[in-house]
Amino acid sequence: MTLLLGIESSCDETAASVVKNGRVVLSNIVASQDALHIEYGGVVPEIASRAHIERILPIIKEAIAAADITVEQLEGIVVGNRPGLIGSLLVGVAAAKTLAWSLQKPLIAVDHVIAHLWAPILSGATVEYPALGAVVSGGHTSLLILDDPASVTCIGKTIDDAAGEAFDKAAAILELGWPGGRRIDEAAAKGNPVYKLPRPKTKGERPDFSFSGLKTALLYGVRGNPKKIHGKIVFPRKANELSEEEVCDWACSFQQAAVDSIINGIRTALANNTVRCVVTGGGVLANTYLRTQLKALALEFHIPVYLPDSSYCVDNAAMIAGLGFHLFENGHREPLSLNASPRGVAS
Ligand code: KG4
Ligand code: ZN
Repeated sequence: MTLLLGIESSCDETAASVVKNGRVVLSNIVASQDALHIEYGGVVPEIASRAHIERILPIIKEAIAAADITVEQLEGIVVGNRPGLIGSLLVGVAAAKTLAWSLQKPLIAVDHVIAHLWAPILSGATVEYPALGAVVSGGHTSLLILDDPASVTCIGKTIDDAAGEAFDKAAAILELGWPGGRRIDEAAAKGNPVYKLPRPKTKGERPDFSFSGLKTALLYGVRGNPKKIHGKIVFPRKANELSEEEVCDWACSFQQAAVDSIINGIRTALANNTVRCVVTGGGVLANTYLRTQLKALALEFHIPVYLPDSSYCVDNAAMIAGLGFHLFENGHREPLSLNASPRGVAS
């Protein structure tokens, strides 16, 4: 039996988890910072790293207690050390290194984006490789070919906004609040896709993504074409002039366009690559319409498509400990000089 402690602090969730043999989650503690960033309408890196410092030790203690183990029983410490906000990552890395040193346990480092693709395995999926990985989150929209859980080639990514970022910006345009993905999802459920919005494609063969044109089309659709008056950009309408029905219809139209772009990218990747399944992860996988469309894609391509349970969509440390188990089993160990990096394989 191998018990690993996972630590995650790449953006605005402070998380720790104890996972047995990479699959059995004994504890999964996530402290969201949403309340701290809400008034700014997005994550403020300096606030995020300060909050991680305050929370990291209580969260680790809570994860150990909830797993009903002692730290001595751990076989190793796994940390997501890339990619992400550097100030945030450094807090998790410093905590992991300190624990590994003081307990004399092995230290393992994982790429947070690749770790998202371990999430379906935590819910029982048996992933066969090579697999096509789709990470759709607030920071990434990446298509990866996985030769095994940790050997990855990026074959497509967003050239501007990440999909989750586009959902957050769309919610801001519709004045639905932040974080926006879930709010768009909820509003879309009450609306119809009556407005025409583009399904942006990038030029060339690669299944890359682009969401900034879609966001601008939504902005102009909702508020009208802007004019420059005395050097200032002025929109003819305000979002709060829309009826509730119109807001829901815009949310639904946006959601369909964004999800169609994601599905089209996956479709191109499946047409151009031979893989045994599709494995998905990231916060946007919580989206109801995306999940429905991915299930339809599985039937269309006669291929298993593995989705994470909703509790493992957003950033969490169980996926970190899970991928860490694979590396641990294959002999990976990091020195105490381990550093954090804002960039990873898919960024
Ligand atoms: O994976 P995650 O926790 O953070 C990153 O690693 O980036 O993803 C957070 C993103 C946010 O942009 C949030 O708006 C989006 O996931 N999200 C959703 C939904 N729930 C969360 N997007 C669409 N529909 C949802 N239901
Ligand atoms: Zn993430």
